[in-house]
Amino acid sequence: MNVLLIGSGGREHALAWRLAQSPALHTLYAAPGNPGIARHATIAALDPSNHRMIVDFCRRETIGLVVIGPEQPLVEGLADTLRAAGVPVFGPGKAAAQLEGSKGFTKDLCARANIPTAAYFRVTSKDGALAALDDLGGRAVIKADGLAAGKGVTVALTRAEAEAAIDALFADGPAEAVIEEVLEGEEASLFVLTDGNAAVAFGSAQDHKRVGDGDTGPNTGGMGAYSPADVLTPVLEQQAIDTIVRPTIAAMAAAGTPFSGVLYAGLMLTADGPKLIEYNVRFGDPECQVLMTRFTGDLVALLLAVAEGRLADTAAPVFSDAIALTVVMAARGYPGTHETGGAISGIETAESTGAVVFQAGTREADGAIVASGGRVLAVTGTGGDISSAQAAAYRGVVAIDFPTGFARRDIGWRAIERAASVVATGEN
Ligand code: AMP
Ligand code: GLY
Repeated sequence: MNVLLIGSGGREHALAWRLAQSPALHTLYAAPGNPGIARHATIAALDPSNHRMIVDFCRRETIGLVVIGPEQPLVEGLADTLRAAGVPVFGPGKAAAQLEGSKGFTKDLCARANIPTAAYFRVTSKDGALAALDDLGGRAVIKADGLAAGKGVTVALTRAEAEAAIDALFADGPAEAVIEEVLEGEEASLFVLTDGNAAVAFGSAQDHKRVGDGDTGPNTGGMGAYSPADVLTPVLEQQAIDTIVRPTIAAMAAAGTPFSGVLYAGLMLTADGPKLIEYNVRFGDPECQVLMTRFTGDLVALLLAVAEGRLADTAAPVFSDAIALTVVMAARGYPGTHETGGAISGIETAESTGAVVFQAGTREADGAIVASGGRVLAVTGTGGDISSAQAAAYRGVVAIDFPTGFARRDIGWRAIERAASVVATGEN
């Protein structure tokens, strides 16, 4: 079968790497792709926002499955256009993609379906926002509605911080926003594949959103991740599936907009159990890199079963017992204005240590790889425990020569501290 993968980041490199290992695959195409993806796929000169162009390509190249990596084309309805043209597609349509595209939509759905999440107010004016802040006791999370790549969120622990965020949000007049209660706990991400009816867990991960060691500095798209997230114990995972994910899938189906694809639940593990922070309607980046490293099955067959609504008749996905950990190497200045064009070498050396190097923001210049984005590489290692997975990833990182880049040095620290405290107290 021929498969078309849409996207150009580290997540899509990981998908391409795993899709290319499927026995059923004939040719993998990718658009727009990147030099890492090009190691596994034929790059097609297609614009993902030109839906007609994508459908024509699928017909011409007899594409049997389209896998859509990023949220933007999903929110723009690319999956709907492909489905209408009879092309199997992994990823939700526009209506179901609102679970990520509109925070207000998701909060209202949670309220209707009694799904545990932070208390919230939807507001459209500064006065409304300030009133909501009063109701929440002066501490609040302020979120712009719509896709904001994780940057439209301020967790304000004081009234002054909250008011500054509200001022900034309404600086240009009315806007759609959600003001919500600050949840306390540790965060974990849960991935569930669903074809709209059946659902199957597809692993967990913990992301590192802040740019600096010790979780300091501004928020980013993610500086590293590991899987599984040990803090999400099997009991908590089941609780999250039963109280959050399944009711969401049922509510979407009942509304006539079934969700098909991967539902990525960002959870806060509070003293009262898991609560939903947000949904994403695609794999996480860099979470996908660690999930794909651990997934050992036939990815084309599995994603096609989701696309064709056959998940109930498909064997559950199989993962290796190893821990996978990925470290993002970013361009200096990220998440602010960052340098581009920085030289990168040593990818092969890094891979000879056993690490897998997924490329995110890279391009080819005169036969060499240079940085072209904020997050540039995701260097991934595996091990029998979290410390050896971390060591394996950093063996790869030190082998990379990227003078204008940087990486966090502590990816996995929460799990490593937990493992150390278990040893210290003799628990198991
Ligand atoms: P979001 O874009 O909704 O995922 O928010 C980005 C980040 O803000 C999350 O990963 C959390 O770290 C934090 N956050 C969002 N909502 C809350 C909340 N209600 N309580 C505490 N932290 C939150
Ligand atoms: N790493 C966070 C995300 O993909 O949204």
